[in-house]
Order: sequence, then structure tokens, then C-alpha cells
Amino acid sequence: MGDNPTNPPGQYPSTRLRRLRRFDWSRRLVREHRLSIDDLIWPAFVVDGDNRREPVESMPGVDRRSSDLLVDAVGEAKDLGIPVVAIFPAIDPAKKTPDGDEAVNADNLVCQTVRAIKQVHGEGIGVLCDVALDPYTTTGQDGLVRDGYVVNDDTLGVLCRQAVAQAQAGCDVIAPSDMMDGRIGAIRRALDEAGFERVLIMSYAAKYASGFYGPFRDAVGSKSDLGSGDKRTYQMDPANTDEAMREVALDVAEGADMVMVKPGMPYLDIVRRVKHTFALPTYAYQVSGEYAMLRAAADRGWLDGEATMLESLLAFKRAGADGILTYFAIEAAKLLGSGNMGRGT
Ligand code: PBG
Repeated sequence: MGDNPTNPPGQYPSTRLRRLRRFDWSRRLVREHRLSIDDLIWPAFVVDGDNRREPVESMPGVDRRSSDLLVDAVGEAKDLGIPVVAIFPAIDPAKKTPDGDEAVNADNLVCQTVRAIKQVHGEGIGVLCDVALDPYTTTGQDGLVRDGYVVNDDTLGVLCRQAVAQAQAGCDVIAPSDMMDGRIGAIRRALDEAGFERVLIMSYAAKYASGFYGPFRDAVGSKSDLGSGDKRTYQMDPANTDEAMREVALDVAEGADMVMVKPGMPYLDIVRRVKHTFALPTYAYQVSGEYAMLRAAADRGWLDGEATMLESLLAFKRAGADGILTYFAIEAAKLLGSGNMGRGT
């Protein structure tokens, strides 16, 4: 019998979409998208020192670690099957300068950490490094500032040197996050000339000037440097989508192997359009503010943390992403590995 006994028999729906939703086995059978450990990239923060681990206040559950402890944590990520770790440095304020010279020091915190990770873990896990000057500049800007403007072409030379230093340290994936024009081509040439033609480039191709980066800037200590400044003369206007297509097209033409959209959840339309248009490896960055929102609500008992975490990650796959940079990577990998997919999936 149908649900409504007053319905005459001829008016029952002939198509009942609920039939396939009835059992766990039938839901699994028709499931279109799946989240797997292979989809995860873990962004991790590194800080000077030994045996040092300190929480990032605005990102509960996320820590800055000294490189010795990060090497161990990367071992855990590797054992869980996470394919890539992304390294972000919280630089000693004493090492910051207006032009961010420490960025090109072949022995800086990032390079030391990459060397240490590669020495212990080899090819067992990929290492990705950001290319941008903001962790190193006293302005908190991603490039060189001249007369109050972040200058494009002079910044490119510094970014190229930063990328080559990271490749020399053993970095597998160079990820320019600076949004200067022409940087992918310039960095590709610099890497090739230095003999690193096999090093990959994942371009932060469509990166928006977003309020959701706030907790990250706490984590790397660039918030107070940036002060009331913003990045709107180089990061994209959140109102635009056609412009994202132009950004991606340029980066692909200049030699990007993979592209990224950032932030993540508020920009799923962009992920969808990029994947659909370019059909190349496309990643989404579930950024610090997205993590903080979900975590804060879960910590207060306002949301089911596991369910919303997995649901938010699956949403990226549905939109077309091939993978996700997420601060939940370790937690998500543990759940996925245990076969406990949570109620969100
Ligand atoms: C640096 C960089 C930022 C993020 C990744 N690389 C911050 C910014 O552009 O200000 C943000 C990541 C996050 O919020 O999780 N260029």
C-alpha cells in the first residue's frame, strides 16, 4: 500500500526514488562519488626549535610543530596512506624583512624540514611547498611592496629563487600561492633550468581574496604584519567566475600540472566549472576558516563533527575535485581507513 490511503491507485508514483535509498547495500550500490584517503592533502605548520608543539588558537586540533616532531607526524600521515603533505612555516619574526629575503635562503625552515622529511620518508609521501613571500615579509604581503603596491615582475624573480631552493631541498610539488601574473611560466623555466624538470607544479590558479584565511594567518604569524592591509590587488574578487577561467587557462598554458581553487566550500561552483572546462587534475583547498567554523561548532556540540567533516569533503568530490587540501586530513584518513565512513557519507 502507498503512504496515503486516500490516493486512488492510479495516482501512486510510478517512480519511487526512495526504493534505492532503502538499504545500506543499495545506497552503496548506486553511490556516485566517494571520498578516499587518496584524495587527501594534509597542510601542516612547522616552527623553529626541537620537540616543540604548540596549538593554533583559532584552529583547535591543529598544532605548529618543530621539524623533528613534524617528521614523526608525516610518518603517521604516510602510514595512513595520505599521498601528500603541504608544509607551511611560522617564521621567527626576527627573520622577517620587508622583501622577505629568508624565503630564498636554501637553509630556511621550510628547506630544512623538507630535507628532514625526505631523508626519513623518501618517496613514501609527496611533499608540497607554497611559493609566496607572506610568511617572510614584514608587510605580510605575498610579494615585494614598492610605493605601497605589490609589484609583479620584480616579485617573480624572488619567487623563482624560492621555488628552486625548495626543489633543491627535495620538494616534489611546487605550489605558487602568490597570484602574481606570469609566475607559473617563470617558475617552470627556473625549475627546468636548474635541472628540476620533473618537479611538479600545482598552481593556486583561482585564489580569491577571502576572509576565510584568517586563522591561517594566525598560524603562520602573518596577521599582525598584514595589519589593515589586504591582498585584493592580486588575489581574485569573490564576485567573479569568468576571471577564474582566465586564470586557470593561463596557468595551464604556462605549464601547471595541477590546478587548485581556494577557498573551498564557498567556491564549489568554481571547482565545478574549472574541472568541467579544463578536465585536468583539479584540487580544492578547504581553508583555515572553513576548518575553524566546522570545528568550533562541533566542539560546542552544535554540529556532529565527524558527519559534517566527511560531508564537506565529499562535497568537493561531487563538485569535481580530484583531491582536497584539508586540515582534517589525518582525522578523515583514520575514519576512512577504519571503514567507519560516518553518517555524513
Ligand atoms: C599564502 C597562503 C595563504 C593560505 C595558503 N597560502 C594565506 C593568504 O593568502 O593570505 C591560506 C590557507 C588557509 O587559510 O588555510 N599565500
